[in-house]
Amino acid sequence: MASRRAPCPDRLAARPGPHKIPMATRSKSSQRWLREHFADPYVKKAQAEGLRSRAAYKLEELIERDRLLKPGMVVVDLGAAPGGWSQYVRKALGDTGRVVAMDILEMPSLAGVDFLHGDFREDEVLSQLLAMLDGQPVDLVLSDMAPNKSGVDAVDQPRMMHLAELAMDFADGHLKPGGNFLIKLFQGTGFDDYVKELRRRYDKVVIRKPDASRKRSPEVYALGQGKRIQIK
Ligand SMILES: C[S@@+](CC[C@H](N)C(=O)[O-])C[C@H]1O[C@@H](n2cnc3c(N)ncnc32)[C@H](O)[C@@H]1O
Repeated sequence: MASRRAPCPDRLAARPGPHKIPMATRSKSSQRWLREHFADPYVKKAQAEGLRSRAAYKLEELIERDRLLKPGMVVVDLGAAPGGWSQYVRKALGDTGRVVAMDILEMPSLAGVDFLHGDFREDEVLSQLLAMLDGQPVDLVLSDMAPNKSGVDAVDQPRMMHLAELAMDFADGHLKPGGNFLIKLFQGTGFDDYVKELRRRYDKVVIRKPDASRKRSPEVYALGQGKRIQIK
């Protein structure tokens, strides 16, 4: 079970005030993270624009490049908290379509977004998600899910690939033919095989590293476009 302690690195951290732990008692890596975080132009932009996370700018770039959103679409956002992606999609769709979001962490409500709180690895949670969709065909599946990092690659990478496999299964079963699937992956063990599997399922598969994705992060985004009726 993923620990719920460490938040997603794209969350907008609260600026440390005088009442917070003094910098001297923080670890070197957490001091560096905080320095980088508050100097990051995407963090500043997200705060100024009232977005819930800097991750919204990654999605914006990915969506705009391939024109992935059209009015009326049904979009599922896996690993949605704190809500930057859902916020972006809801705004882009205007009053049309549907956004169904889920996360193992709670997420403050967002107007026009149906949210499910639960662990995507659990069958019961998947059943609840399907009940929320109520048979509505999905046009776009997004997954920004990532486990809390332990810092040990041999632990983190299999956890990440497990979530990615579950997201691919979900898209296999519930994304409509011709639909698109966008997923965050970490480059490492299992990555190449996963992309091979995507190529069997989608007419076109590309790997993207958006500008807002931190250079030293192993994350990239795989985009499967045009879901095939049958796996090749
Ligand atoms: C990078 S953050 C997502 C940021 C989000 N896209 C945004 O724009 O605000 C990754 C998310 O994956 C979620 N996650 C990790 N494991 C999960 C699981 N087993 N089920 C559901 N969500 C999970 C985390 O709780 C975290 O909120």
